[in-house]
Amino acid sequence: MSGSSLPENMPPHGQPEPPGGLLSWIDRRLPVFTALRKEYVDFPMPRNLNALWNFGAILTVVLVIMLASGIFLAMNYTPTASEAFLSVEMIERQLPAGWMLRALHVTGASLFMAALYVHLFRGLYYGSYKQPREILWLTGLVLLVMVMVTAFAGYVLPWGQMSYWGADVAGKAVGAVPVIGPALEHIMEGSDQLGDIFIHRFFVLHFVMAFAIVGIVALHVAALHVSGPNNPTGRPVPARETVPFHPYYTTKDVTGLVLFALVFVALAFLWPDLLAEPENYRPANPMHTPADIEPEWYFLPFYGLLQSVPSKFGGLVAAGASIGVLFMVPWLDPSPVRSARSRPLCRAGMAGVVVSFVLMGLVGRHHAEGGWMIVGRVAALCYFGYFLVLLPLCARREMRRGG
Ligand code: HEM
Repeated sequence: MSGSSLPENMPPHGQPEPPGGLLSWIDRRLPVFTALRKEYVDFPMPRNLNALWNFGAILTVVLVIMLASGIFLAMNYTPTASEAFLSVEMIERQLPAGWMLRALHVTGASLFMAALYVHLFRGLYYGSYKQPREILWLTGLVLLVMVMVTAFAGYVLPWGQMSYWGADVAGKAVGAVPVIGPALEHIMEGSDQLGDIFIHRFFVLHFVMAFAIVGIVALHVAALHVSGPNNPTGRPVPARETVPFHPYYTTKDVTGLVLFALVFVALAFLWPDLLAEPENYRPANPMHTPADIEPEWYFLPFYGLLQSVPSKFGGLVAAGASIGVLFMVPWLDPSPVRSARSRPLCRAGMAGVVVSFVLMGLVGRHHAEGGWMIVGRVAALCYFGYFLVLLPLCARREMRRGG
Protein backbone atom coordinates (compact mmCIF):
# COMPACT_ATOMS: atom_id res chain seq x y z
CA MET A 1 0.00 0.00 0.00
CA SER A 2 1.45 3.41 -0.93
CA GLY A 3 1.94 6.06 1.78
CA SER A 4 -0.60 8.39 0.09
CA SER A 5 -3.53 5.96 0.66
CA LEU A 6 -2.95 6.00 4.42
CA PRO A 7 -5.22 8.12 6.62
CA GLU A 8 -3.95 11.66 7.29
CA ASN A 9 -3.05 10.98 10.90
CA MET A 10 -0.73 8.04 9.99
CA PRO A 11 2.95 8.58 9.07
CA PRO A 12 4.10 7.06 5.72
CA HIS A 13 5.08 3.38 5.95
CA GLY A 14 8.50 2.85 7.51
CA GLN A 15 8.65 6.30 9.13
CA PRO A 16 8.51 6.76 12.91
CA GLU A 17 5.14 7.47 14.48
CA PRO A 18 4.65 10.93 16.00
CA PRO A 19 5.16 10.92 19.80
CA GLY A 20 2.03 10.59 21.94
CA GLY A 21 2.03 7.35 23.90
CA LEU A 22 -0.05 4.22 23.76
CA LEU A 23 -3.45 5.93 23.68
CA SER A 24 -2.60 7.98 20.56
CA TRP A 25 -1.13 4.86 18.93
CA ILE A 26 -4.41 3.00 19.50
CA ASP A 27 -6.50 6.04 18.53
CA ARG A 28 -4.78 6.39 15.16
CA ARG A 29 -5.82 2.80 14.38
CA LEU A 30 -9.18 2.70 16.16
CA PRO A 31 -10.36 6.24 16.97
CA VAL A 32 -12.35 5.31 20.10
CA PHE A 33 -10.81 8.07 22.19
CA THR A 34 -11.53 10.71 19.54
CA ALA A 35 -15.13 9.46 19.42
CA LEU A 36 -15.45 9.49 23.23
CA ARG A 37 -14.07 13.03 23.37
CA LYS A 38 -16.50 14.18 20.69
CA GLU A 39 -19.57 12.47 22.23
CA TYR A 40 -18.89 12.75 25.98
CA VAL A 41 -16.45 15.62 26.55
CA ASP A 42 -17.03 18.29 23.90
CA PHE A 43 -20.65 17.32 23.05
CA PRO A 44 -22.71 20.56 23.11
CA MET A 45 -25.57 20.34 25.64
CA PRO A 46 -28.39 22.85 26.23
CA ARG A 47 -27.53 24.61 29.48
CA ASN A 48 -31.12 24.61 30.82
CA LEU A 49 -31.61 20.85 31.43
CA ASN A 50 -33.29 20.17 34.78
CA ALA A 51 -32.93 17.20 37.17
CA LEU A 52 -35.28 15.06 35.07
CA TRP A 53 -32.46 14.80 32.51
CA ASN A 54 -30.40 12.88 35.11
CA PHE A 55 -32.45 9.72 34.80
CA GLY A 56 -30.87 8.39 31.60
CA ALA A 57 -27.48 8.28 33.33
CA ILE A 58 -29.09 6.77 36.43
CA LEU A 59 -30.72 4.05 34.31
CA THR A 60 -27.42 3.27 32.62
CA VAL A 61 -25.58 2.86 35.93
CA VAL A 62 -28.37 0.75 37.50
CA LEU A 63 -28.33 -1.45 34.38
CA VAL A 64 -24.62 -2.12 34.94
CA ILE A 65 -25.28 -2.97 38.62
CA MET A 66 -28.08 -5.35 37.58
CA LEU A 67 -25.85 -7.13 35.07
CA ALA A 68 -22.92 -7.41 37.47
CA SER A 69 -24.99 -8.69 40.42
CA GLY A 70 -27.05 -10.92 38.08
CA ILE A 71 -23.98 -12.70 36.71
CA PHE A 72 -22.84 -13.65 40.22
CA LEU A 73 -26.36 -14.70 41.23
CA ALA A 74 -26.60 -16.89 38.12
CA MET A 75 -23.36 -18.67 39.10
CA ASN A 76 -25.09 -19.90 42.26
CA TYR A 77 -28.68 -20.38 41.14
CA THR A 78 -30.20 -23.72 40.09
CA PRO A 79 -33.04 -23.45 37.53
CA THR A 80 -35.16 -26.46 38.54
CA ALA A 81 -38.48 -26.67 40.36
CA SER A 82 -37.01 -28.67 43.24
CA GLU A 83 -33.82 -26.63 43.68
CA ALA A 84 -34.60 -23.03 42.65
CA PHE A 85 -36.08 -21.86 45.96
CA LEU A 86 -33.39 -23.64 48.00
CA SER A 87 -30.58 -22.22 45.86
CA VAL A 88 -31.90 -18.69 46.44
CA GLU A 89 -32.07 -19.40 50.20
CA MET A 90 -28.48 -20.68 50.01
CA ILE A 91 -27.41 -17.46 48.25
CA GLU A 92 -29.11 -15.39 51.00
CA ARG A 93 -27.77 -17.35 53.97
CA GLN A 94 -24.57 -19.18 53.02
CA LEU A 95 -22.88 -17.58 50.04
CA PRO A 96 -20.38 -14.93 51.21
CA ALA A 97 -22.01 -11.52 50.53
CA GLY A 98 -24.84 -13.39 48.76
CA TRP A 99 -27.44 -11.41 50.77
CA MET A 100 -25.89 -8.24 49.36
CA LEU A 101 -25.93 -9.47 45.77
CA ARG A 102 -29.59 -10.34 46.11
CA ALA A 103 -30.49 -7.10 47.90
CA LEU A 104 -28.76 -5.10 45.13
CA HIS A 105 -30.47 -7.09 42.36
CA VAL A 106 -33.96 -7.02 43.87
CA THR A 107 -33.85 -3.35 44.97
CA GLY A 108 -32.17 -2.49 41.66
CA ALA A 109 -35.09 -4.01 39.72
CA SER A 110 -37.64 -1.87 41.58
CA LEU A 111 -35.62 1.33 41.31
CA PHE A 112 -34.86 0.65 37.65
CA MET A 113 -38.58 0.49 36.90
CA ALA A 114 -39.23 3.62 39.00
CA ALA A 115 -36.49 5.52 37.12
CA LEU A 116 -37.82 4.20 33.82
CA TYR A 117 -41.31 5.58 34.52
CA VAL A 118 -39.86 9.00 35.44
CA HIS A 119 -37.70 8.94 32.27
CA LEU A 120 -40.70 8.04 30.11
CA PHE A 121 -43.03 10.65 31.60
CA ARG A 122 -40.28 13.26 31.22
CA GLY A 123 -40.14 12.45 27.50
CA LEU A 124 -43.93 12.69 27.21
CA TYR A 125 -44.12 15.95 29.13
CA TYR A 126 -41.43 17.79 27.19
CA GLY A 127 -42.44 16.29 23.83
CA SER A 128 -39.10 14.53 23.36
CA TYR A 129 -40.83 12.02 21.05
CA LYS A 130 -41.32 14.57 18.29
CA GLN A 131 -39.41 14.98 15.06
CA PRO A 132 -36.41 14.40 14.82
CA ARG A 133 -36.39 12.13 17.91
CA GLU A 134 -38.97 9.52 16.84
CA ILE A 135 -36.45 6.66 16.66
CA LEU A 136 -35.00 7.68 20.02
CA TRP A 137 -38.53 7.40 21.45
CA LEU A 138 -39.27 4.07 19.72
CA THR A 139 -35.99 2.48 20.89
CA GLY A 140 -36.88 3.70 24.40
CA LEU A 141 -40.25 1.93 24.19
CA VAL A 142 -38.61 -1.25 22.88
CA LEU A 143 -36.39 -1.03 25.98
CA LEU A 144 -39.46 -0.60 28.19
CA VAL A 145 -41.03 -3.80 26.81
CA MET A 146 -37.74 -5.71 27.07
CA VAL A 147 -37.18 -4.54 30.65
CA MET A 148 -40.72 -5.60 31.58
CA VAL A 149 -40.26 -9.06 30.08
CA THR A 150 -36.90 -9.39 31.84
CA ALA A 151 -38.35 -8.28 35.18
CA PHE A 152 -41.26 -10.69 34.87
CA ALA A 153 -38.96 -13.59 33.94
CA GLY A 154 -36.68 -12.71 36.87
CA TYR A 155 -39.55 -12.74 39.35
CA VAL A 156 -40.36 -16.33 38.38
CA LEU A 157 -36.85 -17.58 39.19
CA PRO A 158 -36.92 -17.76 43.05
CA TRP A 159 -39.90 -20.11 42.60
CA GLY A 160 -41.81 -18.80 45.60
CA GLN A 161 -45.60 -18.76 45.86
CA MET A 162 -45.93 -15.43 43.99
CA SER A 163 -43.49 -16.56 41.30
CA TYR A 164 -45.58 -19.63 40.67
CA TRP A 165 -49.05 -18.11 40.86
CA GLY A 166 -48.02 -14.94 39.01
CA ALA A 167 -46.73 -17.14 36.19
CA ASP A 168 -49.97 -19.14 36.33
CA VAL A 169 -52.07 -15.96 35.89
CA ALA A 170 -49.84 -14.75 33.03
CA GLY A 171 -49.99 -18.16 31.33
CA LYS A 172 -53.81 -18.21 31.55
CA ALA A 173 -53.99 -14.63 30.17
CA VAL A 174 -51.86 -15.69 27.18
CA GLY A 175 -54.03 -18.80 26.80
CA ALA A 176 -57.10 -16.55 26.46
CA VAL A 177 -55.92 -15.21 23.06
CA PRO A 178 -58.44 -16.55 20.49
CA VAL A 179 -57.26 -19.41 18.23
CA ILE A 180 -53.51 -19.32 18.94
CA GLY A 181 -53.79 -18.79 22.74
CA PRO A 182 -53.44 -22.42 23.87
CA ALA A 183 -50.45 -22.94 21.55
CA LEU A 184 -48.80 -19.75 22.85
CA GLU A 185 -49.43 -20.85 26.43
CA HIS A 186 -47.83 -24.20 25.71
CA ILE A 187 -44.79 -22.53 24.10
CA MET A 188 -44.45 -20.27 27.15
CA GLU A 189 -44.86 -22.99 29.75
CA GLY A 190 -43.21 -25.90 27.98
CA SER A 191 -45.46 -28.59 29.48
CA ASP A 192 -48.89 -29.02 31.08
CA GLN A 193 -47.53 -28.29 34.53
CA LEU A 194 -45.40 -25.26 35.45
CA GLY A 195 -42.08 -26.79 36.43
CA ASP A 196 -38.53 -27.54 35.29
CA ILE A 197 -38.99 -26.71 31.60
CA PHE A 198 -40.74 -23.44 32.39
CA ILE A 199 -38.09 -22.30 34.92
CA HIS A 200 -35.31 -23.23 32.49
CA ARG A 201 -36.94 -21.25 29.68
CA PHE A 202 -37.47 -18.21 31.84
CA PHE A 203 -33.92 -18.36 33.21
CA VAL A 204 -32.52 -18.32 29.67
CA LEU A 205 -34.98 -15.58 28.66
CA HIS A 206 -34.02 -13.46 31.67
CA PHE A 207 -30.29 -13.82 31.00
CA VAL A 208 -30.45 -13.27 27.22
CA MET A 209 -32.83 -10.29 27.45
CA ALA A 210 -30.60 -8.56 30.00
CA PHE A 211 -27.72 -8.48 27.49
CA ALA A 212 -29.95 -7.69 24.51
CA ILE A 213 -31.07 -4.60 26.49
CA VAL A 214 -27.47 -3.36 26.50
CA GLY A 215 -27.42 -3.54 22.69
CA ILE A 216 -30.65 -1.52 22.38
CA VAL A 217 -29.39 1.04 24.93
CA ALA A 218 -26.40 1.57 22.62
CA LEU A 219 -28.81 2.30 19.71
CA HIS A 220 -30.93 4.55 21.97
CA VAL A 221 -27.94 6.65 23.01
CA ALA A 222 -26.57 6.71 19.44
CA ALA A 223 -29.94 8.11 18.27
CA LEU A 224 -29.79 10.72 21.05
CA HIS A 225 -26.38 11.86 19.83
CA VAL A 226 -27.70 12.39 16.29
CA SER A 227 -30.44 14.85 17.32
CA GLY A 228 -28.92 16.06 20.59
CA PRO A 229 -31.10 16.33 23.68
CA ASN A 230 -34.37 18.19 23.83
CA ASN A 231 -34.74 20.73 26.68
CA PRO A 232 -37.52 21.95 29.01
CA THR A 233 -38.63 24.74 26.64
CA GLY A 234 -38.87 22.29 23.73
CA ARG A 235 -37.40 24.95 21.43
CA PRO A 236 -34.10 24.50 19.54
CA VAL A 237 -31.18 25.88 21.51
CA PRO A 238 -28.75 28.24 19.70
CA ALA A 239 -25.04 27.29 19.93
CA ARG A 240 -24.30 30.19 22.31
CA GLU A 241 -26.71 28.66 24.85
CA THR A 242 -24.94 25.30 24.97
CA VAL A 243 -22.16 24.08 27.26
CA PRO A 244 -19.77 21.14 26.75
CA PHE A 245 -20.88 17.85 28.32
CA HIS A 246 -17.74 17.78 30.45
CA PRO A 247 -17.41 19.18 33.08
CA TYR A 248 -20.95 20.61 33.25
CA TYR A 249 -23.06 17.51 32.77
CA THR A 250 -20.55 14.98 34.09
CA THR A 251 -20.70 16.77 37.46
CA LYS A 252 -24.49 17.15 37.27
CA ASP A 253 -24.91 13.44 36.44
CA VAL A 254 -22.57 12.42 39.27
CA THR A 255 -24.53 14.59 41.73
CA GLY A 256 -27.79 12.95 40.62
CA LEU A 257 -26.21 9.51 40.88
CA VAL A 258 -24.98 10.15 44.44
CA LEU A 259 -28.48 11.25 45.55
CA PHE A 260 -30.03 8.25 43.84
CA ALA A 261 -27.38 5.96 45.42
CA LEU A 262 -28.43 7.19 48.87
CA VAL A 263 -31.98 6.01 48.25
CA PHE A 264 -30.67 2.79 46.70
CA VAL A 265 -28.41 1.82 49.61
CA ALA A 266 -31.01 2.82 52.20
CA LEU A 267 -33.52 0.48 50.54
CA ALA A 268 -31.03 -2.33 49.79
CA PHE A 269 -29.27 -2.37 53.16
CA LEU A 270 -31.74 -0.97 55.69
CA TRP A 271 -35.14 -2.00 54.30
CA PRO A 272 -34.42 -4.81 51.80
CA ASP A 273 -37.93 -6.23 52.27
CA LEU A 274 -39.86 -2.98 51.95
CA LEU A 275 -40.78 -3.65 48.33
CA ALA A 276 -40.77 -7.46 48.59
CA GLU A 277 -43.87 -9.64 48.77
CA PRO A 278 -43.79 -11.83 51.94
CA GLU A 279 -45.74 -14.59 50.18
CA ASN A 280 -42.76 -15.14 47.88
CA TYR A 281 -40.69 -16.32 50.84
CA ARG A 282 -42.82 -19.49 50.81
CA PRO A 283 -41.78 -22.15 48.28
CA ALA A 284 -44.08 -22.59 45.27
CA ASN A 285 -46.96 -24.89 46.08
CA PRO A 286 -49.24 -25.82 43.15
CA MET A 287 -51.77 -27.24 45.65
CA HIS A 288 -52.28 -23.98 47.56
CA THR A 289 -53.45 -20.75 45.89
CA PRO A 290 -52.55 -17.63 47.93
CA ALA A 291 -55.49 -15.46 49.05
CA ASP A 292 -54.17 -12.51 46.99
CA ILE A 293 -52.20 -12.96 43.79
CA GLU A 294 -50.63 -9.69 42.77
CA PRO A 295 -47.57 -8.74 40.74
CA GLU A 296 -44.70 -6.44 41.72
CA TRP A 297 -45.78 -2.81 42.28
CA TYR A 298 -44.53 -1.68 38.85
CA PHE A 299 -46.90 -4.03 37.03
CA LEU A 300 -49.94 -3.11 39.15
CA PRO A 301 -51.39 -0.50 36.69
CA PHE A 302 -51.38 -3.10 33.90
CA TYR A 303 -52.83 -5.71 36.26
CA GLY A 304 -55.57 -3.24 37.25
CA LEU A 305 -56.34 -2.65 33.57
CA LEU A 306 -56.39 -6.39 32.90
CA GLN A 307 -59.00 -6.82 35.62
CA SER A 308 -61.14 -3.78 34.77
CA VAL A 309 -62.18 -5.24 31.41
CA PRO A 310 -64.80 -7.99 31.70
CA SER A 311 -63.29 -10.56 29.32
CA LYS A 312 -59.81 -12.02 29.88
CA PHE A 313 -58.79 -11.44 26.29
CA GLY A 314 -60.23 -7.90 26.36
CA GLY A 315 -58.13 -7.19 29.47
CA LEU A 316 -55.03 -8.49 27.73
CA VAL A 317 -55.72 -6.28 24.70
CA ALA A 318 -56.28 -3.23 26.94
CA ALA A 319 -53.05 -3.85 28.88
CA GLY A 320 -51.12 -4.33 25.61
CA ALA A 321 -52.77 -1.26 24.06
CA SER A 322 -51.75 0.91 27.04
CA ILE A 323 -48.13 0.44 25.90
CA GLY A 324 -48.95 0.12 22.19
CA VAL A 325 -50.50 3.60 22.18
CA LEU A 326 -47.17 5.07 23.33
CA PHE A 327 -45.57 3.80 20.11
CA MET A 328 -48.07 5.91 18.14
CA VAL A 329 -47.59 9.12 20.13
CA PRO A 330 -45.16 10.82 17.69
CA TRP A 331 -47.85 10.52 15.00
CA LEU A 332 -50.87 11.21 17.20
CA ASP A 333 -49.31 14.54 18.12
CA PRO A 334 -47.87 16.22 15.00
CA SER A 335 -47.96 19.73 16.54
CA PRO A 336 -44.73 21.73 16.23
CA VAL A 337 -45.10 22.84 19.87
CA ARG A 338 -43.04 20.37 21.89
CA SER A 339 -43.01 21.07 25.57
CA ALA A 340 -46.16 20.80 27.71
CA ARG A 341 -44.84 23.95 29.41
CA SER A 342 -46.29 25.88 26.48
CA ARG A 343 -49.42 23.69 26.17
CA PRO A 344 -51.75 24.25 29.17
CA LEU A 345 -54.38 21.78 27.98
CA CYS A 346 -51.82 19.02 27.41
CA ARG A 347 -50.28 19.82 30.78
CA ALA A 348 -53.62 19.21 32.48
CA GLY A 349 -54.07 16.07 30.38
CA MET A 350 -50.62 14.79 31.39
CA ALA A 351 -51.52 15.26 35.05
CA GLY A 352 -54.66 13.21 34.30
CA VAL A 353 -52.54 10.46 32.72
CA VAL A 354 -50.32 10.25 35.81
CA VAL A 355 -53.32 10.17 38.18
CA SER A 356 -55.06 7.53 36.01
CA PHE A 357 -51.90 5.40 35.95
CA VAL A 358 -51.65 5.52 39.75
CA LEU A 359 -55.38 4.79 40.11
CA MET A 360 -55.10 1.79 37.78
CA GLY A 361 -52.28 0.58 40.05
CA LEU A 362 -54.53 0.92 43.11
CA VAL A 363 -57.24 -1.01 41.28
CA GLY A 364 -54.66 -3.77 40.64
CA ARG A 365 -53.89 -3.76 44.36
CA HIS A 366 -57.50 -3.91 45.52
CA HIS A 367 -58.85 -6.21 42.81
CA ALA A 368 -61.31 -4.68 40.38
CA GLU A 369 -64.53 -5.33 42.25
CA GLY A 370 -67.43 -2.99 43.13
CA GLY A 371 -66.27 0.64 43.35
CA TRP A 372 -62.73 -0.26 42.27
CA MET A 373 -64.08 -1.70 39.03
CA ILE A 374 -65.67 1.68 38.22
CA VAL A 375 -62.49 3.54 39.21
CA GLY A 376 -60.48 1.21 36.94
CA ARG A 377 -62.73 1.82 33.96
CA VAL A 378 -62.84 5.60 34.40
CA ALA A 379 -59.05 5.72 34.83
CA ALA A 380 -58.60 3.59 31.69
CA LEU A 381 -60.88 5.94 29.73
CA CYS A 382 -58.90 8.99 30.91
CA TYR A 383 -55.59 7.31 30.05
CA PHE A 384 -56.59 6.36 26.51
CA GLY A 385 -58.64 9.54 26.10
CA TYR A 386 -55.54 11.66 26.55
CA PHE A 387 -53.56 9.92 23.81
CA LEU A 388 -56.36 9.20 21.34
CA VAL A 389 -58.52 12.32 21.71
CA LEU A 390 -56.98 15.21 23.64
CA LEU A 391 -53.46 15.05 22.19
CA PRO A 392 -54.56 14.95 18.50
CA LEU A 393 -57.13 17.73 19.16
CA CYS A 394 -54.55 19.97 20.84
CA ALA A 395 -52.15 19.31 17.98
CA ARG A 396 -54.78 20.26 15.39
CA ARG A 397 -55.62 23.49 17.17
CA GLU A 398 -51.96 24.45 17.49
CA MET A 399 -51.26 23.63 13.84
CA ARG A 400 -54.21 25.79 12.75
CA ARG A 401 -52.74 28.63 14.78
CA GLY A 402 -49.36 27.98 13.17
CA GLY A 403 -47.68 26.61 16.34
C1 HEM B 1 -32.90 0.61 29.69
C2 HEM B 1 -33.60 1.71 29.68
C3 HEM B 1 -33.10 3.05 29.23
C4 HEM B 1 -31.84 3.60 29.31
C5 HEM B 1 -30.59 2.99 29.92
C6 HEM B 1 -31.92 4.93 28.73
C7 HEM B 1 -30.86 5.79 28.62
C8 HEM B 1 -30.96 7.10 28.20
C9 HEM B 1 -29.92 8.10 28.30
C10 HEM B 1 -28.51 7.86 28.88
C11 HEM B 1 -30.41 9.26 27.80
C12 HEM B 1 -29.70 10.63 27.81
C13 HEM B 1 -29.86 11.30 29.18
C14 HEM B 1 -31.29 11.75 29.47
O1 HEM B 1 -31.90 12.42 28.63
O2 HEM B 1 -31.81 11.40 30.56
C15 HEM B 1 -31.75 9.01 27.33
C16 HEM B 1 -32.56 9.93 26.69
C17 HEM B 1 -33.84 9.69 26.25
N1 HEM B 1 -34.57 8.53 26.47
FE1 HEM B 1 -33.91 6.87 27.37
N2 HEM B 1 -33.22 5.15 28.30
C18 HEM B 1 -33.96 4.04 28.59
C19 HEM B 1 -35.32 3.87 28.35
C20 HEM B 1 -36.15 4.80 27.75
C21 HEM B 1 -37.59 4.69 27.62
C22 HEM B 1 -38.45 3.55 28.16
C23 HEM B 1 -38.01 5.79 26.96
C24 HEM B 1 -39.44 6.14 26.58
C25 HEM B 1 -39.97 5.78 25.54
C26 HEM B 1 -36.86 6.60 26.65
C27 HEM B 1 -36.87 7.80 25.96
C28 HEM B 1 -35.82 8.70 25.91
C29 HEM B 1 -35.89 10.01 25.28
C30 HEM B 1 -37.09 10.60 24.51
C31 HEM B 1 -34.65 10.62 25.49
C32 HEM B 1 -34.23 12.03 25.02
C33 HEM B 1 -34.76 12.98 26.05
C34 HEM B 1 -34.54 14.43 25.78
O3 HEM B 1 -33.45 14.83 25.46
O4 HEM B 1 -35.53 15.15 25.95
N3 HEM B 1 -35.74 5.99 27.17
N4 HEM B 1 -32.07 7.69 27.59
